[in-house]
Amino acid sequence: MCGIVAYIGHQQASPIIIKGLKRLEYRGYDSTGISLYNGAELQTIKTKGKVSDLEAKLQAGEPIQAAIGLGHTRWATHGVPNDVNSHPHTSNSGDLVVVHNGIIENYAALKEELIQRGFTFSSDTDTEVLVNLIEDVQKKEKVKLGKAVQIALTQVVGAYAIVVFDHKKPNELVAARLGSPLAIGIGEGEFFVASDATPFIEYTKNVIYLEEEHLAIIRCDRDITIRKITSDKVIKPYIEELQMSLENIQKGGYDHFMLKEIFEQPQAIRDTLRGRLLSNEGVNVITLSSLREHENKFLKARRILIVACGTSWHAGLVAEYLLEKFTRIPVEVEYASEFRYRDPIIFPDDIIIAISQSGETADTLAAINIAKERGAFVFGVCNVVGSSISRLTDAGCYTHAGPEIGVASTKAFTTQITVLSLLALRLGMVKGTLSRSEYQQHLVELESIPDKVSEILTQEALIKAVATSFKDANNCIYLGRGYNFPVALEGALKLKEISYIHAEGYPAAEMKHGPIALIDEQMPVVVIATKKGHYDKVVSNISEIKSRKGRIIAVVSEGDVRVKELADYCIEIPESLECFTPILTTIPLQLLSYYIAVQRGCSVDQPRNLAKSVTVE
Ligand code: F6R
Repeated sequence: MCGIVAYIGHQQASPIIIKGLKRLEYRGYDSTGISLYNGAELQTIKTKGKVSDLEAKLQAGEPIQAAIGLGHTRWATHGVPNDVNSHPHTSNSGDLVVVHNGIIENYAALKEELIQRGFTFSSDTDTEVLVNLIEDVQKKEKVKLGKAVQIALTQVVGAYAIVVFDHKKPNELVAARLGSPLAIGIGEGEFFVASDATPFIEYTKNVIYLEEEHLAIIRCDRDITIRKITSDKVIKPYIEELQMSLENIQKGGYDHFMLKEIFEQPQAIRDTLRGRLLSNEGVNVITLSSLREHENKFLKARRILIVACGTSWHAGLVAEYLLEKFTRIPVEVEYASEFRYRDPIIFPDDIIIAISQSGETADTLAAINIAKERGAFVFGVCNVVGSSISRLTDAGCYTHAGPEIGVASTKAFTTQITVLSLLALRLGMVKGTLSRSEYQQHLVELESIPDKVSEILTQEALIKAVATSFKDANNCIYLGRGYNFPVALEGALKLKEISYIHAEGYPAAEMKHGPIALIDEQMPVVVIATKKGHYDKVVSNISEIKSRKGRIIAVVSEGDVRVKELADYCIEIPESLECFTPILTTIPLQLLSYYIAVQRGCSVDQPRNLAKSVTVE
């Protein structure tokens, strides 16, 4: 959470930083600030609210012309969102400014010690403690800025990505990370530091992703120096080429990133399949290069444990059905946040699959570390290339969905299921638990999924009209069975997070064990009732709801007759094999929550209290 952008070079820093912060608002958007230095004056402007509020405040005042600056967009952890708690934070002397993403867990004890030594604090944040701790080290140890930051960070418990500037050393920025990401863009005589590479995409393609516990000293007139914080070992910087384009991170004519990303799904799924699902003289094959070397480990696995959070956890639940069906390997799916703290039993021949769009989720990272400590092999399914999880795992597959900027996850979910389908089918075929003919049948069908998603998207107008009928609901229930039970959970999550309507997902058959008591003429019930799977059972569940006057929106297979007689609204999806229906049934639910949220006037891409990348636990 929180987005950082810093610049040092020869251009005006302020427009670069403001534009960069707008691109990082998915990480947090409750308060924001900027510090600029022009060689004489260090100016800091902060405000509660969004980056556009900061921009207005800058324009209303007299911003200095500066070629060095640090900016921040915040998702509050310590201290309410207000002007004072916004970053950058300044040290007591006024010399140092810091922007920080993460949490300093021992900040209270450090603060107490600093108060004893005469420091004073104006905010409630852990970051103000950190900047003064660095100043304290600088004074006591009489060391340069980089060293002072390094020593201070060895006293810190928690997670951080920071950029520090000392106006007495105006040619230098110091950046460091532990648990929160930082990317350094290298231009011609200029450097950019940001929480991800999007703020500098139009300026340079050369990027260094700072590794865990690394500290970088960035000077305009020299090469970057990187050291390991604890051991002081000098590290050779690894410069990568950025694969992203500006177009990828713009709205492209859509009203919201979420809508753009919903409509990108046919292409995103094709990109996930590209080079992996191949057709050779009429015979289809799956090649997953990252799996090749480790296939045996999977085949001999005692168990597969899937760890993830939120929407990625829902994809994990679908994967449980897929992997158990095709490989007959037992699968357990865990919330990473629970797994990490419950002393889980992990056997060395267990395989852990970690699923994460951002590749930065703190709980998922911690779960991976536990699994690795206990000797298990960890396979990652990530979207963001070069993310922490993709680097920490032993092997993995990218989803190749392209940047997902809307806070509510859409194309990440469908592409995660696509990758996990490839994995399950490939393993099942190699293991012999899936026959050759079934394997072929599934691959032919999988190839047709992007077109089927496009077909569903043509029903946008109908779904928008359904949304109008339900936009004033206070509650909503989502039901599904089998492969589509996780889709019910996902549909409910989408509605909750962007429209703030209370929603619950249940396996349809669980209704009669309690939730059916909620049904009355006010209660919308979204039911996934496709032909394949447990159709007859779901039809009975729908009848039970109808008898209690619930209002039913059903997602059905093309040509359905029985559900249509019972439901108030039906949205059709093309026929498919049962195991791929989650990729299809989830599309109308995404559009439904999108249009309900829009019609309620909600901030779709930046829902309240949320952030896209949850880098704190
Ligand atoms: C919901 C959503 C979140 C994320 C969760 C995990 O729409 O986006 O629930 O799925 O925070 O994030 P990743 O996948 O980045 O680990």
